[in-house]
Amino acid sequence: MAGGKAKEIEKEIEKEARISEAEVAVHWGEEEYIEPPEEIKRQAYVTDPTFREKFKEENFPECFHIYADLLDWDRYWHTTLDTSNPPFWKWFVGGKLNACYNCVDRHLKKYGNKAAIIWVPEPEDEPKRVLTYYDLYYQVNVVASVLQSLGLKAGDTVTLYMPMVPELPITMLACARLGIIHSQVFSGFSGPACAERIIDAESKVLITIDGYWRNGKWIDHKKNADIAVNVAAERGHKVEKVLIWQRYRDRYNSESKPIEGRDFLMKDLLKEHRGKKVPYVPMPAEAPLFIMYTSGSTGKPKGCVHSIGGYLAYVAGTCKYIHDIHPEDIHWCMADIGWITGHSYIVYGPLALGATVLIYEGVPTYPDPDRPWRIAERYGVTILHTAPTAIRLLKKLGSDPSKYDYKFRILVTVGEPIEPEVWRWYYTAVGKKQAVVLDTWWQTETGGWLCAHLPGVEPMKLGSTGPGALGIYPVIYDENGNEIPPGSGKAGYICIKNPWPGRMLTIWKNPERMIKGYYEKFCKNKESKDWRDWPYIAGDAATCDKRGYFRILGRMDDIINVAGHRLGTKEIESAALTVEGVAEAAVVPKIDELKGHVPDLYISLKDGYEPSPEIAEKVKMAVRNIIGPIATPAHVYIVPDMPKTRSGKIMRRVLACISNGRKDFGDLTTLIDPSIVEKIWEIVHGEG
Ligand code: WTA
Repeated sequence: MAGGKAKEIEKEIEKEARISEAEVAVHWGEEEYIEPPEEIKRQAYVTDPTFREKFKEENFPECFHIYADLLDWDRYWHTTLDTSNPPFWKWFVGGKLNACYNCVDRHLKKYGNKAAIIWVPEPEDEPKRVLTYYDLYYQVNVVASVLQSLGLKAGDTVTLYMPMVPELPITMLACARLGIIHSQVFSGFSGPACAERIIDAESKVLITIDGYWRNGKWIDHKKNADIAVNVAAERGHKVEKVLIWQRYRDRYNSESKPIEGRDFLMKDLLKEHRGKKVPYVPMPAEAPLFIMYTSGSTGKPKGCVHSIGGYLAYVAGTCKYIHDIHPEDIHWCMADIGWITGHSYIVYGPLALGATVLIYEGVPTYPDPDRPWRIAERYGVTILHTAPTAIRLLKKLGSDPSKYDYKFRILVTVGEPIEPEVWRWYYTAVGKKQAVVLDTWWQTETGGWLCAHLPGVEPMKLGSTGPGALGIYPVIYDENGNEIPPGSGKAGYICIKNPWPGRMLTIWKNPERMIKGYYEKFCKNKESKDWRDWPYIAGDAATCDKRGYFRILGRMDDIINVAGHRLGTKEIESAALTVEGVAEAAVVPKIDELKGHVPDLYISLKDGYEPSPEIAEKVKMAVRNIIGPIATPAHVYIVPDMPKTRSGKIMRRVLACISNGRKDFGDLTTLIDPSIVEKIWEIVHGEG
């Protein structure tokens, strides 16, 4: 077949490129296990070392009843797992429930006067706000009444574009009460990035806020929301209504004034619906709860659709038996609610268990790097949940937890591999050796944790995530789908052998993409209805030690992890290509002391354009404006040409080597012009 050979070569190269990009990820060799402190061994929910056996493969899928039974069901399910249409598994089929009821109403009797949310504003002189479960119930009902009055109903989508304020979980829960599918867009994304997600979700209503505080600056967020609505309109999608919360109840603080007929202040709407109660809508377990967009290896972000029953059971279960959240805990997760971590481990998981969550508006280093410990001391935080990036930054800035009197039980780390010295600081300085460090590995698509050890009965391993979470059976495959045995020291693709209730239902409006992106490569038999033939491919490289603890090395695909934020290389490259004169763009991860990785962008120019600092700056700004500040390239290098194979593919692994100051390029013979490599090296590192 013509072109067959070329395709094969291309595949080979691609394969090589992926593995070496994973190799760029942080590596270290320590094998250190640390037993949990005695106190935690006594207090944890799981103190029985044989608890894991309940989730053994022979008990699958019924083992997940332990999770589902944490919820209140309006109707019990008749089928635990329906595998008739792989890989579109359905959990708890026949069951009906409501997520808002489970996170709010059912706690009123026992915990009505207990804090559900403690909100800490970024300005330190502003008072905190505490919402008891009863307050939350009251407010969620009023907001649900507002949404209902706009004609919104079960199955509709609504886009939320909100920062870290209590009105965000209130709005999410109000949607859930009515069965409305919410799609929260991270507030740090730019207006155009929000527009893309509004259009894909087909939301007619956008809910946002006038502004908020971040790093000591007032962010005029309504301006971004207006850009989002305008960009959507230019692309033919009309947002009919924009509902605007106010950061300060008594004033509207944005230069973008409300637009007559389109924009409505929540303050006014709430007044009309004061005191209204809205019955919750019992929903099928497999109906969507929300959409969460994430970067994939093609340009367009993917809308991961999460279910009501399976997802809620999974986050409640992992929160109880692994996270070890008790109702008396004060749980502070620093992640943004705009990411999956915030959805699962600030809002749905902890609230389903009736815990108290602390939500902090701002950055942990404002006004100084001791702020987190003052918050922990003042509010009695017992569980901290954050990312290596934040820990690295605090450590580097000389943060001193020893001055503060608090006591953590559990310290979660998530989002990136954590280096041993950062791990040690987290354990000794932050945790004062009294807490368990829980390294949790998972993804937007997976709803909840995939790897983590049981904090009360299993040791922590320095710089490593744990074995599979309860009921999760991970495996490492080589390129050909052969299992790499634990303890071999060899890296490969980490996959999950079995379905689990937290996995996304599908990709919004694009189910094919779920098969292609997560199952195709290692599917053993596409005709098979047996889940054993359909391992889930996470896209990360990992190793597994003899004890079954996994070490995640980094992405194997076109995704860059910057400060725990997932960015698609194609998205960044497309943004660069919008700048006049840019012919080609390639982005690669450069190792960074604080952020794990930063994006380094290489561009070549069209004929007739001369390299200049202005073009580089324009490209930087374009990426920032089209995606958001987190995607801003650390460097933009203008190169005479890209290192390209004969089939025209840019060899990103060569650029990644150059960015990271490495010369082990591997085989360059497939390049059209191998001399280009030296030229690019000189541009980046100077001569010699
Ligand atoms: C990475 C965030 C190492 C990984 C919850 C994954 C991690 C991607 C860890 C998903 C960890 C997440 N150790 N790497 N503990 N947790 N990752 O979708 O590459 O934003 O595939 O979900 O983050 O990022 P996402």
